[in-house]
Amino acid sequence: PLRALAEQRGLLIGAAVGGALYDPLEPEYAQILAREFNLVVAENAMKWASLSNERGQYGFAGADALVRFARQHGQRVRGHTLIWHEQLPAWVRNGAFSREAMLAVMQEHIQAVAGHFRGQVAYWDVVNEAVSDRGGLRETPFLRAVGPDYLEHAFRFARAADPQAKLFYNDYGADGINTKSDEIYALLKALKAKGVPIDGVGFQAHLDSTFSPRQARMRENLQRFADLGLEVHITELDVLLRGAGTREERLEAQARVYAEVLEACRAVARCTAVTLWGFTDAYSWRAAAEPLIFDALYRPKPAYHALLRALGGT
Ligand code: G3I
Repeated sequence: PLRALAEQRGLLIGAAVGGALYDPLEPEYAQILAREFNLVVAENAMKWASLSNERGQYGFAGADALVRFARQHGQRVRGHTLIWHEQLPAWVRNGAFSREAMLAVMQEHIQAVAGHFRGQVAYWDVVNEAVSDRGGLRETPFLRAVGPDYLEHAFRFARAADPQAKLFYNDYGADGINTKSDEIYALLKALKAKGVPIDGVGFQAHLDSTFSPRQARMRENLQRFADLGLEVHITELDVLLRGAGTREERLEAQARVYAEVLEACRAVARCTAVTLWGFTDAYSWRAAAEPLIFDALYRPKPAYHALLRALGGT
């Protein structure tokens, strides 16, 4: 299994977990999750709107069940995510808040959630997707009410809520060296220089099978963030089946992308985890493009075998 090889290499190999974990009709889901992965992340269950609709009212049952599963199977947990502009309760999304009022809202939420999971979540995505694809910080309820320093406050609140957890900034479209990753690099460098408690950076890696991690200089990109003293994770890897050629050729291209991403991480000493955004094509936010490493019937695809080989297996 992947996790046995990963453990020999000192690497975490993770998967996002969606709805099928307790589906008695799909025992394969939980079996494969336990067998192949040593890290789990909730695909949706720890997001703000999944935990709470009303201020101060939280329901943790679904997220707690995943944390319990992880404990039973010797898996670490990534927490996703504390401050993000999507999947927010309506009162946060639409409310008119002063700076002080929004900082209080953020602090309460982070304290409630990271506090609840204190000691059980090894890594938190504290802030997700704060940089706009067009440059600058993304327009969000947090930026609007607080201003650009909402990020550093989020990290300080998270450190206070769970001093043991490693705190991450997470984003997409920044996997290689490009203008967005340049901007994130500058942002995180400035946060570090200010003494903001940030421990790591997550690269989502939502890719497709025509992408070349090598051409995009993914390894060099991970390395420059590592050189800031940050731990590096690949956090949401999936690879859409795209491009010309036969289906077999596309599956091989997909496998190569998975392997190259894993190799890029292995080449960087501070890159410690590769997490996939699901594992079976039966459950994926982009299921139609079959982006994962097991097919919808839970059979391993070429991408699964490519990851095994990239971990030094056969
Ligand atoms: O749970 C409700 C259900 O009660 C309702 O009946 C149904 C009807 O639409 O919606 C369900 O919620 C959906 C939820 O997934 C659970 O399936 C939401 O509509 C849907 O928007 C939500 O999508 C998630 C998306 O984030 C939200 O933006 C995807 O599953 C999830 O894979 C995706 O994950 C994000 C990461 O958090 C951040 N990075 C990008 C990544 C992909 O978009």
